[in-house]
Amino acid sequence: MLINIAIDGPSGAGKSTLARAAAKQLGLIYVDTGAIYRTVGLAAKRAGLPLGAGDGVVAMLPSLEIDMAYDGEGRQRMYLNGEDVSEAIREPEISMYASDVSAVPEVRAFLLQMQRSMAARGGVIMDGRDIGTVVLPGAPLKVFLTASEEARAERRCRELREKGIECTVGEVLRDMRVRDENDSNRAAAPLRKADDAVLLDTTELDFEQSLAALTALIKEKFGL
Ligand code: DC
Repeated sequence: MLINIAIDGPSGAGKSTLARAAAKQLGLIYVDTGAIYRTVGLAAKRAGLPLGAGDGVVAMLPSLEIDMAYDGEGRQRMYLNGEDVSEAIREPEISMYASDVSAVPEVRAFLLQMQRSMAARGGVIMDGRDIGTVVLPGAPLKVFLTASEEARAERRCRELREKGIECTVGEVLRDMRVRDENDSNRAAAPLRKADDAVLLDTTELDFEQSLAALTALIKEKFGL
């Protein structure tokens, strides 16, 4: 059995922080698929496309070269036409562009193979919105990670502040609602818990407790 773990859930649920930490602890590779959608979102913004310009995004796709690589410390880096955009894609404004382009079926199709090939040899913890339902439907372990809206907004705002990006919890909550609404209600691969995913609600758990819960699920499933 290939050790592949699919983690999905709404924004700010702590997917990336937890998946990265679990991967490090267990010697697995962490793949952040949101970063790939963010790279397409950044390209759309740089091309001067407004939000909702699906046709323009589709027209732009053939000219995009998107690459992913890991640096010496195992951190995932994203490249857009050869330029390292790993920091640029974290700007709060890009979150909305990423959510916007991710609703375009052609964008999802364009990125599907790239995501699947990352998991082809196993050993991967992959997080996103449709990993358990579309990208890796055969993953032996699927986790749907969630927390209350308030907890998610507070965590996301803290994370942004740690990166030196100013925000208020209210602003983050507003943005998050729009994004969750987009991501959950789009026709193409909406955010949804796979029927066979384990639900992990971290509202009442701190980081260490959440990590312990996630790694326990992984160890139990794969006998690690
Ligand atoms: O995980 P994130 O917040 O960095 O993702 C940014 C956006 O990308 C998110 O709002 C929806 C989209 N996304 C997606 O549609 N499917 C994925 N597997 C990952 C992200």
